[in-house]
Amino acid sequence: MSLKLGDTVPDFSQVSTAGPFDFYDWAGDSWVVLFSHPRDFTPVCTTELGAVAALKPEFDRRGVKVVGLSVDPVDSHARWADDIAETQGHALNFPLIADHDRKVSELLDLIHPNASDTTTVRTVLIIDPAKKLRLTLTYPASTGRNFAEILRTIDSLQLADRHKVATPADWQQGEDVIIVPSVDDETARALFPGGWKAAKPYLRTVGQPT
Ligand code: BEZ
Repeated sequence: MSLKLGDTVPDFSQVSTAGPFDFYDWAGDSWVVLFSHPRDFTPVCTTELGAVAALKPEFDRRGVKVVGLSVDPVDSHARWADDIAETQGHALNFPLIADHDRKVSELLDLIHPNASDTTTVRTVLIIDPAKKLRLTLTYPASTGRNFAEILRTIDSLQLADRHKVATPADWQQGEDVIIVPSVDDETARALFPGGWKAAKPYLRTVGQPT
């Protein structure tokens, strides 16, 4: 199944390091980051799992649940978890789905046969509380992902949902944001009574709403 932005991510069940994993029940009304990785006991993946474990408080603070996935079996995940704790200084603190029969990988299009027909690619899905897909990105196996960028994107999405704003290139927390084009100036005056800067009529920036 090829999922596109705005599609509803379907429910699924699979085994995980935290026991049986029923996606919708587990997600509840939280945001979700689901990330797939190629294999257990591989170096880049080991660093990624450690990085996400270290950032777990940041995901929690934003109301985001995190789950990893690969096609390795759950006993392999459990043994690998010891290595992650030992080498990365952070033990796994989120579930890792063991998609041994590729049921979820095929459902979510996480195997790209021309890259590898046996392992999952390095994909990230950000899913909102309504189970809509809000971001998808896929990295090559040889490049570990930047999870600070995933947090930055979550901040941008949550701001956009709350305040009718968008974020410019390379935006970071606390910097000015953009008033979206669908908000006309009259509506903007009510939403942003402190005013805004307009470099062009369509390019209006305002301090980050709190
Ligand atoms: C890794 O996680 O280190 C890795 C996995 C597949 C290919 C290359 C690197």
